[in-house]
Amino acid sequence: MAAGISQHGMWSSKLGFVLAAVGSAVGLGNIWRFSYVTAENGGGAFVLVYLLAVLSVGLPLMIAEVLIGRAGRESPINTLIDLARESKASPAWSLIGWSGVVAGLLILSFYCVIAGWTLSYTVTYAQSMFAATPAIANPGEHFGALTSSTSSLLFWHFVFIVLTIGVVARGVEKGIEAAVRFMIPSLFLILVSLVIYGMTTGHFGTALTYLFSPDFSKVTGSTLVAALGQAFFSLSLGMAGLMAYGAYVPDKASIPRLAGIICAADTGVALLAGMAIFPLVFAFSLDPHTAGPGLVFVALPNAFAQMQFGNLYGLAFFVLLAFAAWSSTISILEGGTAYLVERGLSRWLAATLLGGFAGIVGIGSVLSFTVWSEVRLADRNILDFTNFIASDLMLPLGGLAIATFAGWVLAEPLRRNQLADISDTSYAIWKGLCRYVAPILIALVFASGLGLFG
Ligand code: PHE
Repeated sequence: MAAGISQHGMWSSKLGFVLAAVGSAVGLGNIWRFSYVTAENGGGAFVLVYLLAVLSVGLPLMIAEVLIGRAGRESPINTLIDLARESKASPAWSLIGWSGVVAGLLILSFYCVIAGWTLSYTVTYAQSMFAATPAIANPGEHFGALTSSTSSLLFWHFVFIVLTIGVVARGVEKGIEAAVRFMIPSLFLILVSLVIYGMTTGHFGTALTYLFSPDFSKVTGSTLVAALGQAFFSLSLGMAGLMAYGAYVPDKASIPRLAGIICAADTGVALLAGMAIFPLVFAFSLDPHTAGPGLVFVALPNAFAQMQFGNLYGLAFFVLLAFAAWSSTISILEGGTAYLVERGLSRWLAATLLGGFAGIVGIGSVLSFTVWSEVRLADRNILDFTNFIASDLMLPLGGLAIATFAGWVLAEPLRRNQLADISDTSYAIWKGLCRYVAPILIALVFASGLGLFG
């Protein structure tokens, strides 16, 4: 079982996997979530902690997830059962896979609500593509109108759920690879040009200072929890999604090299997005602290309204963001779907059941903008609460368990074989990161987030 191919199909090449994994990592997390979570946490200090988290915990863990996936070549749940058995450990380690499925469905439930906004904006910009007047002249009002209409929110949310089910139901290679091949480079180009535009606003320096000069007095336990959660969310870690994708990676590919490329691409896009968005936030006097999840959907349209060919720009940007979100939602649904297929369901039925379930749970997040806006759970509305539980708690805890499994539980030959291409020293470093650094850092961050250090 270990070598060879997966019953679910394979990536056509290393590049195929890189594209799919970058597609999974790059999404709303880099642009929508990164910008507003950075703003909520005061800028520079958060960004620095975030970068440290990517390097010390994100990269080793990404290697671990892909490695486990390729060693088992099944859905995360069955892979963990098999590898635990081969390593003479308890099959209860498969709980990592179950918690990943649950975290994934929770993430999908609110992610598709926001991804739905990108579709709605795409249509708005498309309708005024060649018009001389801005498609969205008053971004604040436009955003307010969209997010106060239950029917629009529900409509776009379910359109996105259906799009996601559609691709996952067709299987791994068709669709995902093709879309990502074109989408990631284009998104990158648009972001670079928006960064250049940001330089002309006169607020680029302020934005750089805001993003990159840390004020350590602002670092609290909750900054650490938020930064760690953001790193997991953005890199698609901790819910066994990359484990599922790892199962389809060809035997000869170098996992550390692939993981390095994916982490670098994901971080690069987030930083570019920050450098594109914050000059506009300051130029248009938006308050970064209070804008919340609407930040990107208000800040960028302000710029598009003033730019030459702004409507075309807006269209391109939101189409690409929708694609980036789509290649992420697909990866969220894949692991659970593969499991149900192994249990005998057809791919269509499996994807529809799970996607439909997430869609229904997501109605709560939709209504948190309208009729249930007053509902508070742990001081958050339903969408923020789901996001917090899944991203800031479940993903890092899942990551802690995955690092422990890879570093301590997995039989030595199983993991060394998967990393055959690296030197003994590099291997020892990776193992040390999984055994000690990642679990301890995650545990410490939690302890400080829960206020255990006063
Ligand atoms: N990484 C994706 C993004 O940044 C979201 C995601 C989270 C995807 C968890 C898969 C798993 O948008």
